[in-house]
Amino acid sequence: MSKAKIAINNNYPSVTDLRNKAKKKIPKFAFEYLDGGCNEDVNLIKNTSDIRKVELSPSYLSKHTGSDMKTELFGHTYDAPFGIAPVGLQGLMWPNAPEILAKAAFEHKVPFILSTVSTSSIERIAEITEGQAWFQLYHPTENRLRDDMIQRAAQAECPVLVILSDVPTFGFRPRDIRNGLAMPPKMSVKNILQILGKPEWAMKTLIHGQPNFETLKPYMPKNLDLKQLGKFMDQTFTGRLNEEKIKPIRDMWKGKLVLKGVASEMDAEKAIRLGVDGIIVSNHGGRQLDAGESTIRPLTRIAEKYGDQIKVMMDSGLRSGPDIARTMASGAEFTFLGRSFMYGVAALGNTGGNHTISLLKTELQQVMEQVCCENTTDFPNHLIKKIY
Ligand SMILES: Cc1cc2nc3c(=O)[nH]c(=O)nc-3n(C[C@H](O)[C@H](O)[C@H](O)COP(=O)(O)O)c2cc1C
Repeated sequence: MSKAKIAINNNYPSVTDLRNKAKKKIPKFAFEYLDGGCNEDVNLIKNTSDIRKVELSPSYLSKHTGSDMKTELFGHTYDAPFGIAPVGLQGLMWPNAPEILAKAAFEHKVPFILSTVSTSSIERIAEITEGQAWFQLYHPTENRLRDDMIQRAAQAECPVLVILSDVPTFGFRPRDIRNGLAMPPKMSVKNILQILGKPEWAMKTLIHGQPNFETLKPYMPKNLDLKQLGKFMDQTFTGRLNEEKIKPIRDMWKGKLVLKGVASEMDAEKAIRLGVDGIIVSNHGGRQLDAGESTIRPLTRIAEKYGDQIKVMMDSGLRSGPDIARTMASGAEFTFLGRSFMYGVAALGNTGGNHTISLLKTELQQVMEQVCCENTTDFPNHLIKKIY
């Protein structure tokens, strides 16, 4: 039984409501970093619209003994088939965001994935989640750094290591370029005016202290602006992951290994050959390749072809319980959401994690009852229309 109670703030009964509120509460540079895709946002928009083309069949007269959202993944039973995707710079959008979300995930018994470039440390998040959080590793250039972070994740009893394949380069994001996005936020006149317009964010950030890359702190110089940060990231992380780089990680990491950022059958096949335990079909929420497919399309193909050989999960574009149901019906065994949870925290602060998880659980339960789906492995039996 999860410790958390389903608690929904009735003023925000959808992720769209949370997004609208978040936009009002946090400075423009922080909201645009969270909300935007890349280039012209084509991939971002397609992710959501394509998921919504998937249709499910209602079933009202069949025998129904109840719907249960509990889902088994890697030997662990989660309370729902969705988790919190890794998001960088979380503390820029709301102070303490990673801690708020990790706590809510732990209490609701759903997975939380900490990003290498989030604003809390592996150790702190492990403490909050009693060692149940997953860790997403950006691939370091130096093996020493790679080994050190993997060792820290193992020491923190992290059950799943997530490696990332879709950042061979950083996404081209015009809003962030225009906003001169920096860690800590750059004090340009434009940014100061934006901060002054959001007093609650400003006050909370002042009290909490400026956000920092806590996991990377031992390895990085202090107070970098965007240009210096870009240089540090370029030097410290080789974005491009390949089979040769995955092999030693597979040998070193004794827990479950997940490859995130798979968007083609070819990469799924390689992951299987390398002994990876699971893949997250993902295009980084439309933040990397604007000319790419929406994720629901490769998901359907990959799940059909390889679903019996590897755990197939998906993120990118999900905004609701019906979206989770559509994705599971299309072949995913588990799903993740990124922006939705951050909208929740930016909108509602400390209660945002609990609210967003409660909302998604409530919506998903309602869909399961409508289609007469008794457990989450049963979703594909209720699918009318697949999207390839
Ligand atoms: C602001 C932001 C920062 C992100 N940072 C990371 C990151 O550090 N590591 C990572 O693996 N994915 C990162 N992602 C991608 C998410 O993990 C996830 O794939 C994506 O948000 C899913 O799409 P959705 O936002 O439509 O749910 C980020 C996404 C956003 C929106």
